[in-house]
Amino acid sequence: MQIIDGKAIAAQIKQEIAAEVKEIVAAGGRAPHLAGVLVGHDGGSESYMASKVKACEQCGITSSLLRFDESVSQDELIAAIRRLNNDDSVDGFIVQLPLPRHIDEQAVINAIDYRKDVDGFHPINVGRLSIGLPCFRSATPSGILMLLERSGIDTRGKHCVVLGRSNIVGKPIASLLMQKANPGNCTVTVCHSATPNIQEMCLQADIIVAAIGRPEFVKADMVREGAVVIDVGTTRVDDPTRERGWRLCGDVDFEHVAPKCSHITPVPGGVGPMTIVSLMHNTLLAAKHEIYQ
Ligand code: GUN
Repeated sequence: MQIIDGKAIAAQIKQEIAAEVKEIVAAGGRAPHLAGVLVGHDGGSESYMASKVKACEQCGITSSLLRFDESVSQDELIAAIRRLNNDDSVDGFIVQLPLPRHIDEQAVINAIDYRKDVDGFHPINVGRLSIGLPCFRSATPSGILMLLERSGIDTRGKHCVVLGRSNIVGKPIASLLMQKANPGNCTVTVCHSATPNIQEMCLQADIIVAAIGRPEFVKADMVREGAVVIDVGTTRVDDPTRERGWRLCGDVDFEHVAPKCSHITPVPGGVGPMTIVSLMHNTLLAAKHEIYQ
């Protein structure tokens, strides 16, 4: 059994991105520039954004942060997005979600120029991903593909069971893994809350991607010997033994499932560290105009 070390793979990719950025700058170009839009002071969003800014620093990517008060109107926010769309010094930008309830998130996402949508949330990027065209891939599915690739896992012809059908993980990872590509070329089954026989499905899987947000949902009796298990879960559960009072818990009962697996991602330190790296990767692609001219 091999534990996939997402932290180490993420650190390696960040170094590669930093080296490429250095080359661009050495050749007289300017460093890629990622802008972030943060509305309000939600604790989770603040810490995600701080991690993204730190990752930019590690990669030599310029970052800038636009902050808005919780009370910002949708029109004001969209006006700011239009300015970022038209700002040639910005290669890509993200609007940290969730947004306050009075703002229509989809309307905001739709206002982003898809050529700068490094989160891969714009319908044009989502649609292009689903038909196998070059696009900005959203962070988690992109990170999972990088983990599979860098761990030398052959996905061709494998049966992959995806647990969860969310727009940000389940649907895109199912699309990517069924594409005629490498990694990809899987037979994909997507299970969700209305699937009656999840255990039976999982027992047929060569690869399980667990993204349902239910702590330790995947038990040892759902996993066949030699399976690859990718755990996307990040639920905070109470843990009085920790100073902060909680710990992150995956969707997989790691202790009992791991001994059966050929490869498994831990939580934390598996998929999590890869998501921010995917954003750095997309920002570099945006700066190089590698996907869109
Ligand atoms: N909120 C939680 N994850 C994400 C993400 O990947 N991008 C954005 N914009 N907001 C998030």
